[in-house]
Amino acid sequence: MKGHAIAGPSLALIKYWGKKNAIENTPATGSLAVTLAGLESRTEVSFDDRDSVVVNTEEQPLGRFTAFLDGLRGDLGLVGRGLAVVSSNNFPTAAGLASSSSGFAALAGAVAALSGVEATPERLSALARIGSGSATRPVFGGFTVFDAGALAARPEHDQRYWPDFRVVLCVVREGAKATPSRAGMESSRQTSPYYQPWVDTSPALLADARVALADRNWGRLGPLVRQSYLSMFGTMFSAEPPLIYWQPESLALIQTLQVLRREGFTAWETMDAGPQVKVFCPADQSGALVAELDRRVPGLRFLTAAPGPGLRTWRTEGVSP
Ligand code: DP6
Repeated sequence: MKGHAIAGPSLALIKYWGKKNAIENTPATGSLAVTLAGLESRTEVSFDDRDSVVVNTEEQPLGRFTAFLDGLRGDLGLVGRGLAVVSSNNFPTAAGLASSSSGFAALAGAVAALSGVEATPERLSALARIGSGSATRPVFGGFTVFDAGALAARPEHDQRYWPDFRVVLCVVREGAKATPSRAGMESSRQTSPYYQPWVDTSPALLADARVALADRNWGRLGPLVRQSYLSMFGTMFSAEPPLIYWQPESLALIQTLQVLRREGFTAWETMDAGPQVKVFCPADQSGALVAELDRRVPGLRFLTAAPGPGLRTWRTEGVSP
């Protein structure tokens, strides 16, 4: 018997960065995100004598997975059962393309499917939170909100809400990032003088962005998206030691986008705990945008994604070990 799940990454327009409660893994700042289509974490889980986790064919140290698997076992009535997890991503892992969001959402979904428990999306979202805060969101498709202090994310608008919405992912560097976001946000909290102002200003950003999204208004949404990621990076640059995820190409893209906006493009970038730049734009501009970015900042890989579906789970029967 196997539990299976597929989840897409959740890319935040308004960022979660910092924890309200580190033990419960609840966020200090509310986030607004889109679940992406076409990029996937696929996970299957079966019972075994002991726990094991293989990601993209490589066996992983259990470290952070142990607490997560224990949480899932406790909630889903599987205490004492070992779990063999095999997962793969069809996009760069741990490089700031939000693979932890899709990975932990898929893992929660696959274990729930294996258990046979009919878990609601809200329960799956809360379970995914123990793995990663951002993993609460892609349990739902389309646009999602994960409120400050919340235990689970909630759906805001479904996958079909804004057919014109695209994300161009500019892959600056492949490979794992230097500082995982969990350590990075903790360092911001402990050492940055701008951390508290970041937390204090985030509710208004989230509220305004939700209104702009409800109007499908690029002109209002774009500057809020920019404000959110640059404020978040303000807490990183001012941490001790400073956290600098940017690479020269990241800055080149940001500055090129400033020029492209002046030239008439509707394109607003964001970044996460890595060097990749992700650009929100209307579908009919995405082709020309990629061509211009490729011409002006050569040598990068570009992926374009639309809003995608939420978590899919199923169980296959077979011989149980
Ligand atoms: C910059 O969800 O990876 O991507 O809850 O500690 O696992 P943990 O953190 P994680 O942080 C994501 C931070 C971000 C912004 C976002 O996705 O909202």
